[in-house]
Amino acid sequence: MPALARAAAALVRPSLRLTARPAGCTRRHCLSTVAQHHPHIQEVLLPKQAIEARVNELGRQIAADYADKRPVVIGTLKGAVVFMADLVRAMEPPPPGLELEFVRASSYGAATVSSGKVDLSMVGPTDIKGRHVLLVEDIVDSGCTAVALLEHFATAGAASVKLVSLLSKPERRTVTCEPHYLGFPVEDKFVVGYGLDYAEQYRSLPYIGVLKPECYA
Ligand code: PRP
Repeated sequence: MPALARAAAALVRPSLRLTARPAGCTRRHCLSTVAQHHPHIQEVLLPKQAIEARVNELGRQIAADYADKRPVVIGTLKGAVVFMADLVRAMEPPPPGLELEFVRASSYGAATVSSGKVDLSMVGPTDIKGRHVLLVEDIVDSGCTAVALLEHFATAGAASVKLVSLLSKPERRTVTCEPHYLGFPVEDKFVVGYGLDYAEQYRSLPYIGVLKPECYA
């Protein structure tokens, strides 16, 4: 099967299968992205152009939903940084009073499977009591990290707490957790890029790719 077709088949959401290429992704773009990818990448699951188009959609939707809510957008370090940077700039028109914060959350270390234990700490001193919190995740896998953070903000007195995640692996869930806003559901493959790492590598890749098994075996 050609690489482009494999990348398309890996997407779970039927509307994103490349009978139709991802929005914003021309055939030339997709082929050149696949041809030039990092040597440790087995396949490009989500090309840069497809991510950009979906992030722009999410940004506009969130901007409308939070137009009068003075949201506090809280990104999880480190994985969500790249997604969050693009997402907040896609929030058009920008919700008045929007603030950005970060929380440190880590459950994987250098492993490929979550430990289930989530360490979290706020980076800034912002009091979120009475604020509308939008938590930004790069990926919801087991769901443990997102659930721990959502519970933390709810307990801290947020007026509302919602989750936006670029990716979700539904078949990996060990706790109930569905993002209120989702970029792409993906199959259970080890993905890196666009903020996602393996042992701190690959975060700066502009696309989501599947890591070759020999790189983490
Ligand atoms: C990753 C990712 C999510 C979390 C999702 O973080 O960024 O926050 O795991 O996994 P879960 O749904 O199974 O909890 P990680 O702990 O790898 O830290 P990082 O963001 O610094 O890479």
